[in-house]
Amino acid sequence: MTTANAPGKIILIGEHAVVYGRPAIAAPVWQCVATAVVASAPPGSGVTISAMDIHRRFSLDEVGEDEPLAVVVRATLAHLGVQHPPDLQIELHSDIPIAGGLGSGAALSTALVRALFAHFGQVVEPEVVSAIVYESERLYHGAPSGIDNTVVAFGQPIWFIKGKAAEPLRPAAPLTLVIADSGVPSPTKETVGAVRRLWERETERCEVLFDEIAVLAQRARLAIEQGDRQTLGRLFDADQTLLEALGVSSETLDRLILAARRAGALGAKLSGGGRGGNIIALVEPERVDAVSTALKASGARRIIVTQIERRSPPSLPSRRPEARELR
Ligand code: MEV
Repeated sequence: MTTANAPGKIILIGEHAVVYGRPAIAAPVWQCVATAVVASAPPGSGVTISAMDIHRRFSLDEVGEDEPLAVVVRATLAHLGVQHPPDLQIELHSDIPIAGGLGSGAALSTALVRALFAHFGQVVEPEVVSAIVYESERLYHGAPSGIDNTVVAFGQPIWFIKGKAAEPLRPAAPLTLVIADSGVPSPTKETVGAVRRLWERETERCEVLFDEIAVLAQRARLAIEQGDRQTLGRLFDADQTLLEALGVSSETLDRLILAARRAGALGAKLSGGGRGGNIIALVEPERVDAVSTALKASGARRIIVTQIERRSPPSLPSRRPEARELR
């Protein structure tokens, strides 16, 4: 039996614009993880996959190319050179909010690829994991930039431009973030589609917004590399204004963002596809409790506190011991 984990993720800056070739910054969130367990199954049972958190249970033979997890299994077996797979039972679990902008789909697929490689006794490079997972992301997201599969597969903060090799980002000082789940599911495919339709109607305006987001991303990179949290907070706020102009915020997200700012966050914004899902607030460590309490009082369903540091774990362990999770 082999087990592998993969983290959730947040986009610090640049979501949506990244689909149109602009840079973005993302980081893994080790406080919520997806886990895959692969075990040999009784003879003749074939390959069965069960992911009860997303209410899926199927046999590999039964499903087509529109089932993201089957796409991942087939692509991984092809990479492994396994033409006739042995009988396998694959179980997937995740405590990453689904359709919440935290990369639950990418994390499930990443854990699955890793566990399969481990089952067949092979080591796999993050680039390979990321490429396989991208195929399933296309089914979840429509026209994804590739940022989710990249950050989850590499498991460290990245500077990402579509079609280019991701660059690791090294914060000069740790960044403390409070992540708040609005409890409103919002599939990324839908928000990416909504922005696409807006872009088709108002190409020039959208391109200007994307350019402005790109400038914020450049400045955010500098702020992170210089450990300038005050500036980074202001850039979060500015990015949120541009995301609102793209139509991907919502009343619920706006309320949470305002609550975080009023409670002393350095800046706050939606993270991921938007319209629902999660917001992120950059805070000084001593404001974690105040901001978390304010977010809860404003309706957040779940709060995760994470730190983005210079070095993320090189391998993929289970939860980090210093992780704090307030439910
Ligand atoms: C989703 O985490 C980020 C989006 O920019 C979509 C993508 O980049 O594929 C909204």
